[in-house]
Amino acid sequence: MGIDLLIRSANLADGRTGVDIAIKDGHIAQMRPGIDSPGDEEIDASGCLVSAPFVDAHFHMDTALTDGLLRPNSSGTLLEGIGIWSELKDRLTYEGIVERAMRYCDWAVARGLLYIRTHVDITDPRLLAVQALLEVKRRVAPYIGLQLVAFPQNGILRTPTSMDNLVRSLSMGVEVVGGIPHFERTMADGAQSVRQLCELAASRGLRVDMHCDESDDPLSRHVETLAAEATRLGLQGRVTGSHLTSMHSMDNYYVSKLIPLMREAGLSVVANPLVNITLQGRHDTYPKRRGMTRVPELIAAGIDVAFGQDDVLDPFYGMGSADMLEVAHMGLHVAHMTGSADVLHAFSAITEVPARILGLEGYGLAVGRRADLVVLDARDPFDALRLRAGRLHVIKDGRVVSRSASQRAELFLPGREARVNFGRPILGSSP
Ligand code: FE2
Repeated sequence: MGIDLLIRSANLADGRTGVDIAIKDGHIAQMRPGIDSPGDEEIDASGCLVSAPFVDAHFHMDTALTDGLLRPNSSGTLLEGIGIWSELKDRLTYEGIVERAMRYCDWAVARGLLYIRTHVDITDPRLLAVQALLEVKRRVAPYIGLQLVAFPQNGILRTPTSMDNLVRSLSMGVEVVGGIPHFERTMADGAQSVRQLCELAASRGLRVDMHCDESDDPLSRHVETLAAEATRLGLQGRVTGSHLTSMHSMDNYYVSKLIPLMREAGLSVVANPLVNITLQGRHDTYPKRRGMTRVPELIAAGIDVAFGQDDVLDPFYGMGSADMLEVAHMGLHVAHMTGSADVLHAFSAITEVPARILGLEGYGLAVGRRADLVVLDARDPFDALRLRAGRLHVIKDGRVVSRSASQRAELFLPGREARVNFGRPILGSSP
């Protein structure tokens, strides 16, 4: 059997080392130590972690890279961000949205981020952003899997045209039903919006991913309705609650009932650590709440929790660079997930967990799966996160789509010269 690409001596996230990965016709044909046959092309991955690509389960590609187009967000708050965005979105052009999204997708590839679920604002009656992102989805399909969520930023009951726009966007090819119940006028309207949107998704066989309870208000409890509707409509495993920041501030007794309800409903959760830690807690003096949902407790209950990027260089968040390792690095700090098992969960939260949330088929490192992988400049998931390691080679369907130089330094010091690569000492070396 000919081998198109052979990756030699890889470390895997599950702890195996010295594994050769043979790729043929865009798929993983063999995975074991000591493959004898040569590959048409070979990559020496000795000492490097080879992982399935990163997956971002929560992004806004229509707002990305718009920061400063109108004016900068001088306070850095969500409120000012919403104000700037609502002024800006009527002025956006189709070409501008496409150009910025394509540029972001280039960044994503270089970062080994090959699957993205992006929300797209459908409140504009022209549905310009929907048209633009559907075009981007088509253009990037050879290297990025893009999944679109119809996101009614201004609420479906609060804005009379939103439901009609949302349904139109689904007919155009948007695949997931979004929502924003905490932004509707009342708690009752919020619950009603969850019911209507889940019914719509169930009737069309679609997945649901709602911005839900993105607030510090402990009484914002729409996630409860979301779980109940998922159960009532048989949508288990197909419904995601994004943000859920109010859970951070909820009463512990109530949460002890809520988490089992979410588990029963097969709900998955996306926390967005970079954005949650900066936008929440803004009404606090001291102590200031962190504003991220209860990630370790949800994971302990058997609920799928992913970490998402949410925003990059837009009116809501002026930082970010498509780097999912940066996202998980912040997530594990905010959630106190520095234990060795927790760090592995943080790595899964940007790889296999969001892959399940998106329903990706053929994802993962195993024989027969798609040859989508990343060779990282780190020896294991711990160091990949600690160093936000470089992506030395990014491979899509068996083809190298990006290469980066290793992050090393050469030192010229009095009396000695040295090289550093920032790798941590091997466990068990002399104390
Ligand atoms: Fe979001």
